[in-house]
Amino acid sequence: MSIDEHLDPIPDSFILQPPVFHPVIPYGTTIFGGLYAGKMVMLQGVVPLRAQRFQVDFQCGCCLHPRPDIAFHFNPRFYTVKPHVICNTLQSGLWQKEVRWPGIALQRGASFLILFLFDNEEVKVSVNGQHFLHYRYRLPLSRVDTLAISGDILVKAVGFLNVNPFVEGSREYPVGYEVPCSRALPRGLWPGQVIVVRGLVLKEPKDFTLSLRDGATHVPVTLRASFTDRTLAWVSSWGRKKLISAPFLFHPQRFFEVLLLCQEGGLKLALNGQGLGATSLDQKALEQLRELRISGSVHLYCVHY
Ligand code: GAL
Repeated sequence: MSIDEHLDPIPDSFILQPPVFHPVIPYGTTIFGGLYAGKMVMLQGVVPLRAQRFQVDFQCGCCLHPRPDIAFHFNPRFYTVKPHVICNTLQSGLWQKEVRWPGIALQRGASFLILFLFDNEEVKVSVNGQHFLHYRYRLPLSRVDTLAISGDILVKAVGFLNVNPFVEGSREYPVGYEVPCSRALPRGLWPGQVIVVRGLVLKEPKDFTLSLRDGATHVPVTLRASFTDRTLAWVSSWGRKKLISAPFLFHPQRFFEVLLLCQEGGLKLALNGQGLGATSLDQKALEQLRELRISGSVHLYCVHY
């Protein structure tokens, strides 16, 4: 069977939109594949000291005139004594009835992590790990294809994630996994299978290690990132190190995605959507793999194969 035939069952949702780092504000981007229940947008940033307001708009199209409909307008305001958030929908150029959420955990001068989690009927928003609000859609989610960010905000990173592309009905915020994290590979790896690891690099990272072990606790393949010398390398079972010559794409406090595609004769690697070549491993060794283990200075959101 060819690799392409094996690839067919892989859902499109695996094709992750690369994260965006330090975009110039106002910023707009197409949301690849649009929005649907189970999709999540993460926003990392800082509220400037003299911020008045900023807004994150999930909108239907990107044309400037006429103004596109905005399915979800998320608008923190800091100019009042108590900062609050206004949510609303813009339809045919008219704002609808706005909803006010007091007590937002965003502060002038402070950094934040906001998660927008899109469900069937509503979007849930968490701020710095705490659920903050939910907003029922007034326009169909399927019409949203553009993210626009403007106002007084410094964006460090925008990430696009699927809560879990395989588990229907999983609509919770990602719990996050502790490291070291281990997953059993009961039947080894076969051409066409994909391992996806998504997470956030911690503040003062040392290293990141992803290893594939067999039943006899041999470790035929290890992918290791070292933050001290900013190198990424494959390490073989007998400790031979093969540097991957590519820009170092892991950064402190930024999201990353490692994708390993199993193909005949080895594993293909992509980091943050960029192909970084392959490492060779014969089919027998791939079939005999039994465990995926991840350790190092990261917080994991998704470990899937
Ligand atoms: C208006 C404001 C808009 C938008 C809207 C939301 O007063 O001018 O930018 O925030 O409220 O209801």
